[in-house]
This record gives sequence, C-alpha cells and structure tokens, in this order.
Amino acid sequence: MGYRQHLVRSLLAIRADGGVELASGRRVNVRPVLVGRNAGRLAEIAGLHDVADWTTDLDAALADPDVDIYFDTLSTGARVPAVKKAIAAGKHIYAEKPVAENSADAEELIRLAEAAGLKNGVVHDKLYLPGLRKLRQLIDSGFFGRIFAVRGEFGYWVFEGDWMPAQRPSWNYRAEDGGGIVMDMFPHWNYVLENLFGPVRSVYARSATHIPERVDEQGKTYAATADDAAYAVFELEGGVIAQINSSWDVRVNRRELVEFQVDGTLGSAVVGLFGARIQPRNATPRPTWNPDVKDEHDYLADWHEVPDTIPMANAFRAQWEDFIRHVVEDGPHPYDFRSGARGVRLAELAARSSQTGARVDVPPTQVEPGRPGRQES
Ligand SMILES: NC(=O)c1ccc[n+]([C@@H]2O[C@H](COP(=O)([O-])OP(=O)(O)OC[C@H]3O[C@@H](n4cnc5c(N)ncnc54)[C@H](O)[C@@H]3O)[C@@H](O)[C@H]2O)c1
Repeated sequence: MGYRQHLVRSLLAIRADGGVELASGRRVNVRPVLVGRNAGRLAEIAGLHDVADWTTDLDAALADPDVDIYFDTLSTGARVPAVKKAIAAGKHIYAEKPVAENSADAEELIRLAEAAGLKNGVVHDKLYLPGLRKLRQLIDSGFFGRIFAVRGEFGYWVFEGDWMPAQRPSWNYRAEDGGGIVMDMFPHWNYVLENLFGPVRSVYARSATHIPERVDEQGKTYAATADDAAYAVFELEGGVIAQINSSWDVRVNRRELVEFQVDGTLGSAVVGLFGARIQPRNATPRPTWNPDVKDEHDYLADWHEVPDTIPMANAFRAQWEDFIRHVVEDGPHPYDFRSGARGVRLAELAARSSQTGARVDVPPTQVEPGRPGRQES
C-alpha cells in the first residue's frame, strides 16, 4: 500500500502534475520524505523515483520543521506508537486503516490529535472508487426511492503459500501481528455504510479461520491464528439492513472483487470498484417460481450499465488531494480519526458478536462527530 498506492499512484502522480489545485487556483505541491527500516530498499525506491529525502530515523524526520504531514502505512500493529510520536512532534496526521487495533487506542489518538489542534485523517479509499461514486450519484438522484437492503460480497482466494505464493503479506493471517479480516475490512464497511446508507446501529457477525495453516514469505509454515472470513448482518439507523460477506477463502463468481447490491422501492443497483449496473422498477422482470419448467430468461441481461460521465482519479490519490486541501486551506475531509475510530469500534463489536453468537448494539458514543472525547467528558 505504502509504495504502490500511496507513493507511486498518489504522491508521485500529484508531484508530477504540479501539485494539488486549491480553491484559490493556487497549486501546492508535495515533497515526500520516505521513512522505513531498510536503508537499501529506501535508497533503491528513492533512486528509482527521484525522491531526494529518505531516512531510517523517524524521530529525525519528525523533527524537520519543513515536514507538515506524517502519513502512516505501517503494518497495523506498529501504527499507534508511530502516530503518537508524530502528534507529539506537531505534525498533521494521515493514516491507513484501521487507525488502531482497539477502541481505547483509537480514542486516545483522537484526544491527542484534537488537543494538539492537528488535522487528522484516515484512508477511506472505497468511497472514492468510481463504482461507489456512481452509487452516491444514484442515491443523490433519487433513483432508489426508499433503500431497504444492501448486500455486499467481498473477497477472493488468497493462496495458502505452498505451491502458489500468497498474494497478501503473511502478517494479515496472524492475530498476534494485527491480522484478521474483521479488523481489516469492517473499518471499510463502517464508513461505506454510514456515508451512503446510515450509521450502523447493530451487528451480528460470524467470523472463521477456514485455512488454519499457511506458508509465509520465507517458505515457513505458520499457524494462521487470525480470522480469514466473516459473515455479517448490520442494521442501520433509518432501517436499512445490510449484509456483507468478507472472505480470503472464496473463489470469485462475480464481475468484481467487491460488489454491493442495493435494493430500493424504485430501483436496484449492483456496484463494484469500477462499474455500476441498475434496474429500475418499471424495467424489472416478473419471474414466477416453477421448478418444473427450465427458466431460459437471462436475468443478468436486465441490468443497464451506468456510463462514465465524470473523470475519476485513482481512489487513493483523490483522497490524498482532499486531505492536502484540508491541511492547507481547511477544505472538507470528514474522514478523520473519529470516523476511523468508529470503524475500529465496529470491528471490535463484530468480533464480540462472533464470540458470543449474539447480535450486538452499536450505540452512539464519544466517537460520533462533534462529541467530546472520553477524557474530556
Ligand atoms: N486501504 C486499503 O484498501 C488497504 C489495503 C491493504 C492494506 N491496508 C492497510 O495498510 C497497512 C499496510 O498494509 P500492507 O498490505 O501495505 O502491508 P505490508 O506488510 O506490505 O507493509 C507494511 C510495511 O510496514 C513495515 N513495518 C512494519 N513494522 C514497522 C516498524 N515498526 N517500523 C517501520 N516499518 C515497519 C513493513 O516492513 C512493511 O514494509 C495496514 O494497516 C493495512 O490495514 C489498507
């Protein structure tokens, strides 16, 4: 994520285009400072992409008064201490999700960043995907009427790593290293649901570790201690019922690696990363159930593709541009630590639901927008 999506596709692309345009028409450019542990690798990346500044010393980078923003894309377990250092150094913070591994840590980050008056943001890339932006347009246009149901399917087969190398880093499959699909994906589902359909008010989830043993980057077999699939039902404020399956152990039988079907009284849509197909009420087929007669109707042909009407940049880059405008000219960027913390909280409550088998309420709490942090209340 750090290299491909954030450095190459976002920051270097912004730099190559002469920066981000502000409301005033002025442009502000970025000068990345790479920070990591492996000097050789950093030097290689810096050389490859004409990046002048890199260091293995995070403290030194944070002490540089020319640095305005600390961006954290470390593996999840390493995030909180690094973000705390950056807050102490007075830098604005942008971070990958999940913002922390538990709510207590997430709330502490909110308190520290807000007390220091620092801008803070968490990656909410899915909202910037072309498919979900088309969904937003469909909602805003009134296409759906009253939305009552959302069904999401996310996932693909992540190889175990024996005869075929795994496509994802092995830490994702070890609970002790911050892995697990609930903590990985439910923060995404929280912001997708609350921004498009309404805040989540209860969750029932069943997570599982279907593949108990995997092979890591060094070819060593390890116990996969983290959940690799989760099946969940969410009830949203306003009455929408959403169900989302997330799995690293599913063979893809859909057009895209994530798809959401949204059903409303006036129409339905199926959206993915890029595409969006719709079926309005007055073009809905009228199936009748008859197991004695083979149904030759092509139901998939009843959907209409929503055309691409506006240019859409890489989702990560588009959010970077919003965050930079937020820092430089206080432009809108509602995807702050509080929003990130609500995602962490949903993942925690989903894990609790899975352990107990019970549906768990998600009450409004101090991480809602505008509410004081726990320490101040
Ligand atoms: N927004 C998204 O769609 C999305 C997708 C995948 C991952 N992520 C998030 O991005 C983060 C990184 O995931 P990834 O898939 O890129 O993992 P990764 O393992 O490829 O990258 C993590 C990097 O952090 C480095 N690192 C770990 N601990 C460190 C420490 N203490 N000091 C310095 N460097 C350290 C590792 O060496 C590695 O280079 C995770 O928090 C993950 O949840 C987000």
